[in-house]
Amino acid sequence: MIQPFGFIKSLMPKTLLKRSVMIIVIPLVLVQLTSVYVFLERHLDTITRNIATNIASSIDLITHLHKRNSPTIKTAGIKLGFHIRRYPKSFFKSLKPSAYHAWEDKFLVRALRQSIKDPYVLVSSEAYLRVYVLVKDETLAFTFARKRLMSRTTPLVFFWAIGASIFFLIIAILFMRNQVRPIKQLAEASERFGKGLDITYFKPYGASEVRQAAIAFRRMQERIKRQVEQRTEMLAGISHDLRTPLTRMKLALAMMPKTLDVEPLKQDILHMESMINEYLAFVRGDQQEVPQKLDMGLLIKQSAAQFENNSFHVDVMVPSTPTMIIGRPQALKRALENLLSNAQSFAQEAWIILEKTSKDIQIILDDNGPGIPEEFTDDVLKPFFRLESSRNESTGGIGLGLSIVADIVHGHGGRLHLGKSPQGGLRALIELPK
Ligand SMILES: Nc1ncnc2c1ncn2[C@@H]1O[C@H](COP(=O)(O)OP(=O)(O)OP(=O)(O)O)[C@@H](O)[C@H]1O
Ligand SMILES: [Mg+2]
Repeated sequence: MIQPFGFIKSLMPKTLLKRSVMIIVIPLVLVQLTSVYVFLERHLDTITRNIATNIASSIDLITHLHKRNSPTIKTAGIKLGFHIRRYPKSFFKSLKPSAYHAWEDKFLVRALRQSIKDPYVLVSSEAYLRVYVLVKDETLAFTFARKRLMSRTTPLVFFWAIGASIFFLIIAILFMRNQVRPIKQLAEASERFGKGLDITYFKPYGASEVRQAAIAFRRMQERIKRQVEQRTEMLAGISHDLRTPLTRMKLALAMMPKTLDVEPLKQDILHMESMINEYLAFVRGDQQEVPQKLDMGLLIKQSAAQFENNSFHVDVMVPSTPTMIIGRPQALKRALENLLSNAQSFAQEAWIILEKTSKDIQIILDDNGPGIPEEFTDDVLKPFFRLESSRNESTGGIGLGLSIVADIVHGHGGRLHLGKSPQGGLRALIELPK
C-alpha cells in the first residue's frame, strides 16, 4: 500500500527529545520570520518614509528661507541637522547623481520628489548623503549623515531576537533532556527485565505521567515475578512430594513375588523418577544463578568439547575475538548441552556457528540426523513431548530437554527457532540480545 505521508514520516526525527525540540523550534522560527517580515515590511518602511519626508521638508524649508533672503539659513541648517555649503550656479551643472544606492535611499528619492520643486541632485555615499539644490542662481549643498535616515539599531534588534531565541532554546533543550531521561530509563528497565536481568536499582521519577507508567511497570514486574516464582515453587513442591510415594511403590514392587511380571511397572516408575529429578534439578539450578558477563564463544567451545567422541563430531565456528554478553553461564551451558545431547542421540555430526549482528548474537546448531517434521517444531518445545519414533532405548529421554532450552533462552530475552539444517537434520537457532 502506498503511504502518502511515508516520506514525511521518514524525514521526522525519531527520538522524543528531537521531536520535542522540533515542536519548540518550528513555531519559534515561524514567529521570528513573521516578526522580521512585519518589522521590515511595515514598521521599518513607515519609519524610514517618515524620516525621509522630514528631511525633505527641512531642506525645502531652508531653500524657502533662502529665497526670502533670510540671513539665518546656516543657523537654521545646523539646528535642523544639516551642514550647508554654498556653491556658484555653474557648479550644479557639473554634478552627477552617484552610483551608490542603499535600501533606504529610495525613500529619500521619493520624499525629495514630492517636497522640492527646484532642480536638485542627490549624491549618496556609504556614510553621507548630500542634496544639491539650485536656488536663486546659487547651488546649496545639504550634507547629513546616513545614520539620520537609517536607524542603526535594526541589526541590533535582529541580533538580540535571534540570539535570545538560541539562548532560550538551549535552556529548553537542557530541560527537555531531563524530561526524556526517565522515559529512557523506563525503556531500559523493561529491556533488562525482558532479559531476566536485575532491575532493583530502578526508581520512578520525572513528570507525573512518566512516574505513573514507571510505577505501573514496577507493579507489573513484581506481579509477574511473584507469579512465576509461585508456579515454579508449586511444581517443585508437587514433584518433590511425588518422590515419597514413588519410593514406596518401588519398595512394594521389590517385595512382590517373582512370579508376577512387574518389570514394565518398574520401568515406568524409574521413568517417572528421572522426570521428576530432571525437573527439580532444572528448577534449583535456575533460581540461584546471577547474570554476569561471559564469553559466548568460549562457552560454546567448552560445551562442544564434552560431546566430542569417536562416533560423534562437533564442528565449532566462533569469531576469533570474544563475544561478550550478559547472561547466566550455567543455564546457557545447560541449554547448549541439551541441544548437543539431542544431536548426539539423533545424528553423527553437528555444526555450531556463532555470529554477531548489530542487535543480537545468533547461535546456529545444525546436525545431520532425521530432523523434526515442521508440524512438530512447536510441540517438541512442550514439556514431556517426544516424537513417537524416538521412543526407543537408545534415544530414551523424557522430553524435557528442548522445553528447558526454550525456557533458558526466553529467560535471557532471546528466541529459539527450530527448522531444517542444510545437512538434512535439525537446525536450532538461538537469538540472544547483546
Ligand atoms: N536433533 C534432533 N533430531 C531429531 N529429532 C530431535 C532432535 N532433537 C529433538 N528431537 C525430537 O524432539 C523430542 C523432544 O526433545 P527433548 O530434548 O525435549 O526431549 P528428549 O531428548 O526426548 O528428552 P530429554 O532431553 O529430556 O532427555 C525428542 O524426543 C525427539 O523426538
Ligand atoms: Mg533431549
